[in-house]
Amino acid sequence: MSDPIRIGVLVSGTGSNLQSIIDHCETGKINASVVCVISNKAEAYALERARKHGIRALHVDNHAFHSRESFDAAVVALLLEHQVQLVALAGFNRIVSSVLLDAFPMAVMNIHPALLPAFPGSRAQRQALQYGVRISGCTVHFVDLGTDSGPIIIQAAVPAYDSDTEESLAARILAEEHKIYPKAIQLFAEGRLSIEGRKVHIKPPAEPTAAFLENPPANLR
Ligand code: GRF
Repeated sequence: MSDPIRIGVLVSGTGSNLQSIIDHCETGKINASVVCVISNKAEAYALERARKHGIRALHVDNHAFHSRESFDAAVVALLLEHQVQLVALAGFNRIVSSVLLDAFPMAVMNIHPALLPAFPGSRAQRQALQYGVRISGCTVHFVDLGTDSGPIIIQAAVPAYDSDTEESLAARILAEEHKIYPKAIQLFAEGRLSIEGRKVHIKPPAEPTAAFLENPPANLR
């Protein structure tokens, strides 16, 4: 098997997706290793999670920078220092600039708690409930300069019930996030992802159940 790919994870908060990625790496379910975690918030619990696993946990305060680009340049310098090959945004509450995207072409992913292109932006679960959808879910996508607008890699669907609160729907979606983000990373690690326009192609060998749609499973050739 080839060497594990080196992942840098950008966070701002709790870091449950980070935890899932770390766990999948440590158990060998994905051929990757989280080599650094960078937060724009000093108090992010995600940093503590990284430290517990002996992973470099770095705080870069966005308030110390006069522009989005200069903040991103500082982050890029750290990612390059750690020889990162894939940048995973996991609850990172900032829009990234071309400084980051140009440094890691086709190698910046994000997870969003809605079935994009529906409900981009913040508080997606609340947006979905207020709209009255019956099905919501989550999306792993490559990042572009827009807000949650990049090419879609994997999605998972969950029901939305009349009785749901923002919190209950978020919890149901989060359980799926923890499955599909590691899957997308593994596809990347296997070199199976390519982008054509808006479309992400998943190269064979395809798994017997869908790699791109978690729930309900689709039939792949
Ligand atoms: C997740 O819902 C993710 O989809 C969104 O921010 C949240 C982060 O949660 N981008 P956590 O910090 O990974 O627990």
